[in-house]
Amino acid sequence: MQFNIIVLPGDGVGPEVVDEGVRVLEAVGKKFKHKFVLDYYDIGGVAIDKHGVSLRKDTIKACKKADAVLLGAVGGPKWDNPLASVRPEDGLLALRKELGLFANLRPVRVLPMLEDGSTIKPEVVRGVDLVVVRELTGGLYFGKPKKRWQTSGGRKAVDTMAYSELEISRILKVGFELARGRRKKLASVDKANVLETSRLWRQIATEMAPEYPDVELQHVLVDSCAMRLIQRPAEFDVIVTENTFGDILTDEASMLPGSMGMLPSASVAGIPEEGHPILGLYEPIHGSAPRRAGLNMANPIATILSVALMLRYSLALYEEAAAIEKSVTLVLENGFRTYDIARSGKTEVGTKQMGGLIAEAVLKN
Ligand code: IPM
Ligand code: MG
Repeated sequence: MQFNIIVLPGDGVGPEVVDEGVRVLEAVGKKFKHKFVLDYYDIGGVAIDKHGVSLRKDTIKACKKADAVLLGAVGGPKWDNPLASVRPEDGLLALRKELGLFANLRPVRVLPMLEDGSTIKPEVVRGVDLVVVRELTGGLYFGKPKKRWQTSGGRKAVDTMAYSELEISRILKVGFELARGRRKKLASVDKANVLETSRLWRQIATEMAPEYPDVELQHVLVDSCAMRLIQRPAEFDVIVTENTFGDILTDEASMLPGSMGMLPSASVAGIPEEGHPILGLYEPIHGSAPRRAGLNMANPIATILSVALMLRYSLALYEEAAAIEKSVTLVLENGFRTYDIARSGKTEVGTKQMGGLIAEAVLKN
């Protein structure tokens, strides 16, 4: 089969980790006899430098026509001026919005050989296997008004948290459906003791629950969820939450396996179902890590696991996706680690070596 994939390497370590994702994708192509046609476009800071905007219209057009989009990371100190009129992050946000990718799935799994790699005790992180379903195209990120102005009493700024019933119910549905296919536990995370949007969210979740009698729904306040994620993380199955809460909670959750460099993500416009591939954007949850850029240090596993999610959700290549995940496990079992998950007694390798080892494992196994 032939597939068209748009590749957006972006900034910082983005191009390095994407290179390894592509290397593993090509190994899959070779082994399973698929042709992946890759088209590269600029996004983020590099796009600002080259074209004056963080995302060009023709890039959006190409993404809409493709089978899937693979992205590295955007942003960096060069473009961080708070007064700048164009920001690298805006390109990513516009892409998510333009493609209608309202559901961001962030699986968090602690593999047995990484139990001792977390800053949290091994017995606490043991067996963690959860997925955060983050609403991705609403809330504070996109709500209007969103501005800054001068008042007689000094400067003032506002961001708006707005959610419609449709936005809430469609993301909750993704949460319920995913939970149904897993351990049937759904934690709906909100701040209903303070926020009106959260009260609407909680009400809709409660109204939907009878449609899913097999799923155990629990409402969890976001502050309490942050605590429970490091207290008893293994109890979580599916967490569904709004955009900003999901952003914060997933950085926290990445410390369960011990590094942001281990967490992949899939952004999709619906519920991924077996046999029904949908367009998606696949990216590691980590940022551009500018201090590590160009040093062959960054952990490419988050991106490589994102490629596995891409094969599963957007290309319906299930065996191929599993082959990547198995290869990642194998290479870690064989003791290879990038700097972020390094331990004494293990073999520390760079970005390229890690990608090469995983690609090799795909071909051999
Ligand atoms: C993420 C990132 C982005 C976000 C940034 C880069 C805009 O932190 O994907 O989690 O906040 O969504
Ligand atoms: Mg984030």
